[in-house]
Amino acid sequence: MEEKKVLLSVKDLEVKFHVRGRILTAIRGISLDIYENESIAIVGESGSGKSVFTKTFAGMLDSNGFISNGSIILNDEALQDTVVDFGEKSRRTVQNTYNKLNEYSKLEFGAKTYNEIKALEAEKEAKSNISDELKAEFETKMNDVTHDITELQNYRQTIASSNKEEIKSTNEKIKTLEAELKKLSDDLKAKSREASEAAKNDSSYNAAYTSKHDELTARYKNEITAEVSEETKQRNMLIAKEIQLSCGRFNWRQRTKSINGLLKVLKQAMTEGKELNDEEVRNDLFDNVTFRVKYLDETDNQLHGTTVINLAKIKSEKDWTQIRGRRIATVFQDPMTSLNPIITIGKQISSIIIKHQQCSEVEARRKAIELMNKVGIPKAEEIFDD
Ligand SMILES: Nc1ncnc2c1ncn2[C@@H]1O[C@H](COP(=O)(O)OP(=O)(O)O)[C@@H](O)[C@H]1O
Ligand SMILES: [Mg+2]
Repeated sequence: MEEKKVLLSVKDLEVKFHVRGRILTAIRGISLDIYENESIAIVGESGSGKSVFTKTFAGMLDSNGFISNGSIILNDEALQDTVVDFGEKSRRTVQNTYNKLNEYSKLEFGAKTYNEIKALEAEKEAKSNISDELKAEFETKMNDVTHDITELQNYRQTIASSNKEEIKSTNEKIKTLEAELKKLSDDLKAKSREASEAAKNDSSYNAAYTSKHDELTARYKNEITAEVSEETKQRNMLIAKEIQLSCGRFNWRQRTKSINGLLKVLKQAMTEGKELNDEEVRNDLFDNVTFRVKYLDETDNQLHGTTVINLAKIKSEKDWTQIRGRRIATVFQDPMTSLNPIITIGKQISSIIIKHQQCSEVEARRKAIELMNKVGIPKAEEIFDD
């Protein structure tokens, strides 16, 4: 059987919205693959999230919405193919990055102990604080009261100024809720203080903690002096080149900043013993430069790679314009709200062509008329100016 290419791969997508001080989940746990030459229909009742889902492909979520989990990988060879300079200066940068990575790699030997130290510290931290459950319980209550206050304040605005009675009673309700909020906040503080006092006074626990912590710290110091293997060094060279490829599209200043940012993230990952040979782990670590570029090959003066385009992670409008309207487009449901009745038909088609194909007005007109003819619109030349 012929292997079909996946064009768009969605994994575990989740979208949330900020609505009046609360965060609501609109869709969650959506995964699907769209293959080349395949159509896919999404069916669901009104409000089930069909539109929200598709808007994530084009960066068109309303401004109060955001992707809180998951990935949308776009496989588009033309967009993915990446070449960056690998001249003398660039080689020096790669060498510097490589040296730093090798230095950090020593930390990988101590990762297990490091994680033990962190777990020990977290345990102590938890012991001197109230439980997460109790804290969450308080937070939920406080959020609910805050929400009710906001609702009442909004309602107060709608009361006619002559209705003094209603204004007064609303004000009283708000006051009661504000007192309730203050009490919740005071209770939470008191409970936190209690927990921290109790932990401080538990001297046998504290002594055991200190001795265990000292033991682990000494072990850690010893572990991270080992010699980094050739295999790890090779992996680091590959990562150094991926860093260069991934930051290559930035100007000099932003590139330096991005490389330093990535080094910091990688150092932390090594400290924690993350599996850096794992593709998904590496994709995640490169999140802060938006796109990881996977190394493919190189020549004397160029590095060549392929970009992992994760639409869920795009932050800049500049990146979207490479994709939206060029590689992924939306045809809206309701033409009456999509087309503007006071702009000519031709203009509404040609303005899109000009925006995305960087051509002249004359050229755009020709292309628009060609498209109109193609879909069977009669007298396209004339209709263009209607
Ligand atoms: N900007 C927004 N703010 C808050 N909630 C929203 C927003 N846009 C959509 N939603 C909510 O997301 C859910 C899914 O909506 P939508 O994707 O439009 O449904 P449909 O399947 O009918 O296209 C609905 O509950 C809707 O109220
Ligand atoms: Mg819809």
